[in-house]
Amino acid sequence: MEIIGVFSGKGGVGKTTIASNLAVVFSKAGKRVCVVDCNVTASHLGLHFNFHLTPLSITHVLNGRAELVDVAHNFEGVSVVPAPIDPYEAHGVDLSSLKKLIKKELVNYDFVILDTAPGFGREMLSAAEMCEKAIIVSTPDIAAVTDAVRGIRILGDMGVEIEGIVLNKVFGKKFELSSGEVEAILEKPVIAEIPFSLKFLEALSLRIPLVIYSEKCLPSLEIHALASRFVEEKIYPELGPGDKIKIFLEKKLRNL
Ligand SMILES: Nc1ncnc2c1ncn2[C@@H]1O[C@H](COP(=O)(O)OP(=O)(O)OP(=O)(O)O)[C@@H](O)[C@H]1O
Ligand SMILES: [Mg+2]
Repeated sequence: MEIIGVFSGKGGVGKTTIASNLAVVFSKAGKRVCVVDCNVTASHLGLHFNFHLTPLSITHVLNGRAELVDVAHNFEGVSVVPAPIDPYEAHGVDLSSLKKLIKKELVNYDFVILDTAPGFGREMLSAAEMCEKAIIVSTPDIAAVTDAVRGIRILGDMGVEIEGIVLNKVFGKKFELSSGEVEAILEKPVIAEIPFSLKFLEALSLRIPLVIYSEKCLPSLEIHALASRFVEEKIYPELGPGDKIKIFLEKKLRNL
C-alpha cells in the first residue's frame, strides 16, 4: 500500500480536485483506493463526492468512536473518508494517530490518497508525517510557486519523496510561468499540466469528479496520464474519432 499526499502550500490551487479525480482513475484501473480528507477544519473532499452531509466522518475515527472502514463511503469503488462540514466538530482534533490506523485498517488497499490542508500548520505537518510520496499542486503564478518552494523544503526535510509537480489551472497565457520555468525554480519535474476548464466547476456543482462527469476531455486525459505514472499500465479512456477531434481542438483553442 502506498500513501500519497497531495500538497500545495497555497490554498485553492486544486489539491482536492486532483486528489478526488486521481482516486477515481485508480479505481477505474481496478486498484483499491481510499481518499482521506486531512483538511479537517476546512474540509471540501465530501463535497466533491456528495458525501458532505454524511454524519460519519474522520473525526469519529480520531475520537475512537468508529473504525476507518465505517466512515469510508463508497463512490464508484473509491473509499471516501470525509471530514466534518461543521468546524466545531473538528475542533482540537489530532491527526497524529491516523497513520497507524491507515496501516492497520487499510492494509489491503493499493493506494491511500491524502487531501491536505493549505499552509504549513499542524494539519499539513501531520499529513506530511503520514505519507511516503507527495504530489505538489501549483498554479503557474509566483504566489503559488513560492508556496510550493516552501512546501517542498518542509516535505524534503521530513523525508517525504516528491513525485513531482502538477501544474493546474493553466490558461496557456504568456504571463504565466511555463512548466520549464516552474521546473527550474522548484528543481522537480512537472508531471502533469492541467488546463483551466469550466468543466471542473460544472462537475463540482453536481458533486461528482470531472473524470466521471466528462471522461473524454483534455483535463480528464491529463489526470489519466498522471495516474498512469503510479501503476504499471497506461490508464486511458477509449477515444473514438469524434473524441480525438474534440481533444485536438481543445488543445488548439487553449493556445490561442
Ligand atoms: N483545472 C481547473 N480549472 C478550473 N477550475 C479548477 C481547476 N482545478 C480546480 N478548479 C476549481 O478551483 C476551486 C478550488 O479547487 P480545490 O478545492 O480543489 O482547491 P484546493 O487546493 O483543494 O483548495 P483548499 O486549499 O481550500 O483545500 C474549485 O472550485 C475547483 O473546482
Ligand atoms: Mg482542498
